[in-house]
Order: sequence, then C-alpha cells, then structure tokens
Amino acid sequence: MSSAPTLEEITSALEALEAEAAAAIAEAPDAAALEQLRIDLLGKKGKLSGVLGAMGKLPGDQRPVVGQRANVLKTQVQSLLQERQSALKAAALEARIASETIDVTLPPVYTPAGHRHPLLSTTDAIVDIFCGLGYRVVEGPDIESDYYNFSALNIPEEHPARDMQDTFYLPGDRLLRTHTSPVQIRHLESNPPPVRVIAPGRVYRRDAVDATHSPVFHQVEVLAIDEGLDFSHLRGTVSHFLKAFFGDLPVRFRASYFPFTEPSAEVDVQWRGRWLEVMGCGMVDPAVLEGMGLDPERWSGFAAGLGVERFCMVRHGIDDIRRLFTSDLRFLEQF
Ligand code: DAH
Repeated sequence: MSSAPTLEEITSALEALEAEAAAAIAEAPDAAALEQLRIDLLGKKGKLSGVLGAMGKLPGDQRPVVGQRANVLKTQVQSLLQERQSALKAAALEARIASETIDVTLPPVYTPAGHRHPLLSTTDAIVDIFCGLGYRVVEGPDIESDYYNFSALNIPEEHPARDMQDTFYLPGDRLLRTHTSPVQIRHLESNPPPVRVIAPGRVYRRDAVDATHSPVFHQVEVLAIDEGLDFSHLRGTVSHFLKAFFGDLPVRFRASYFPFTEPSAEVDVQWRGRWLEVMGCGMVDPAVLEGMGLDPERWSGFAAGLGVERFCMVRHGIDDIRRLFTSDLRFLEQF
C-alpha cells in the first residue's frame, strides 16, 4: 500500500477476514485442518496480525476502535473454531456408533462347548483322592530306558515278568514304557524319603486290541516311603481310596507277585456280582530300596498301580475299552 490505510479500509478488511474465516471454518474436514486454520488466522504471522500491522499508522484516537473490532473478531473466530471442533467430534462419534452397531437379530456363530474326556476326568478323580491324603503328583517320560522300566524295578533281562510286558523298542536302549512304575525310580533318585507321590500317565504294551485291551492305555502309580510303613498302611490307603472312588463295594486283597514288591497283592472289588481285579500293590521290595541307596532296615514303603481305563469303565458302566479311543461324539457327549 503506497499511502497509509484509513480506518474504513482496515475495518472493512477485518470484516472480510471475518466472513472468510467463518466460511473456511465451516468447511474444515477435520481437527488437523482446524488447527491449521487457527494458525493461519490468529497466529503470530496470521491474517489478523497482517491486518493489524497497518493499525500503527492510524491516528492515535482511531486505534482503540480498530483494537476493539479486532478483539471481537478474534473471540468470534475462536468460538467458531471451537464449535466446529465439537461438531466434528460428535460426527466422528456418531459414525463410530453407527459402524459398530450390533445386530442382535443375527443368528449367533455357534461354538459348541467342549468338555473333558472321561479318561481325563477319571484320572482327575483318582488324583484328587490321593492329594487329599497328602500325595503329590509327579510325572515321567513315555519313552523310557530298559533300566528304569525293568532292571531298576528288579526285573532283570530274561526275567519272565518281561514276557507280559512286551513293548515297542526304539534304537539306543529305549522303549515305550509298559507301566508307570519307572516313575518310582526316577522320583527316588532325586527325592530322599519320606516320599508320597502318585504318577499318572500313558503306557504301552504289545497287546492285541479287544474289548478289554488296548496297546495304549493309562495308569496311575502310587508310592509311599517312610520309616515304619507296613502292610496295614498299604491296606488302609488302598481301601480308603477304593471306597472314595467306587463307594461301598466289597474289596479283597489277593496274594500275588510283582518283582518290585514283596509281599505283593492284587486288589479286587465286587462289581455286579463278580470279583473284578482293579489294581496291583505291595510293599516295596528291599532290593529296589537298596538299588536306590536306601537302607531297608530304616526305610520301608508301599506301591500300587492301577489302570485308568478299568476304573473309568466300571464307574460309567462302559462295555468296551475301544469306545474310549475312537472319538465318537455320540459316545463322548454322554460324560
Ligand atoms: N506296574 C504293574 C503293572 O503294570 C502294576 C503295579 C503292581 C504297580 C504292583 C505297583 C505295584 O506299584 O506295587 O502291571
């Protein structure tokens, strides 16, 4: 501008600015655009400052008039900015609500709830009873060595007891364990007595499949070692356990033989009028204790082993072991 602007010129510039600002603010698409407008309009190097720069050249009595007008404009622009910001926010919220609306009339995506396999719940029930007696759960590997599965349990090579427990042999002296008894040895190796443990797990044998045999099945091993344990503790523990699991069925102990217990017994429960063998047990053989470096004059204990499938079948009245392994939902859903 060659000559100094007049009061009228500045005032009309302010008015034009106000109209321009109102239009631009009304069209700002988002918060970032609004912020940019605020800077362009009201910032230090903004348009308002530009117009007011010329104010210094006005006569002194006219300056307050322009100042006042400028203040009104500034407040006006600020409140327009704020209103637009609230409007944008409200619109964004509305859009979000609209996009996240749930159609409660849609058919649900149905995921049927699963449940535990009867063999698992049977194992759980057995574990619960022994935990109530102060036993702790331990586990061992499915792939064992000859030492843990046989020799350390007083079953040397060529012992006839091995005939009943043929299994799948892997290279390097390894085999699929035929019972959970090796966990006794593994536990005693690193845990000095007193010991009270149970070891649930999967076991393997070279058995042909029929209604009562499966080459893969499950056992729970029981082991207690302490000072002064005798057969009455074994009998009391096993009787309590069987009563807790089966209810008040008649129980009998029958003399038997296991290489790692002496004396040994098999335990039967009377079920549907027949004696049914449910577990093996006995006092831990002194030879096993000695093999573990324990003095049999000081320590004694008992062990027991049971087949989970048998317990599960008796409890639920299941007639064929194969039902437990064929994953037929019509069967499994009954438990
Ligand atoms: N391990 C034996 C088996 O599978 C069962 C057994 C019998 C385990 C007597 C024991 C026991 O701990 O004392 O045939």
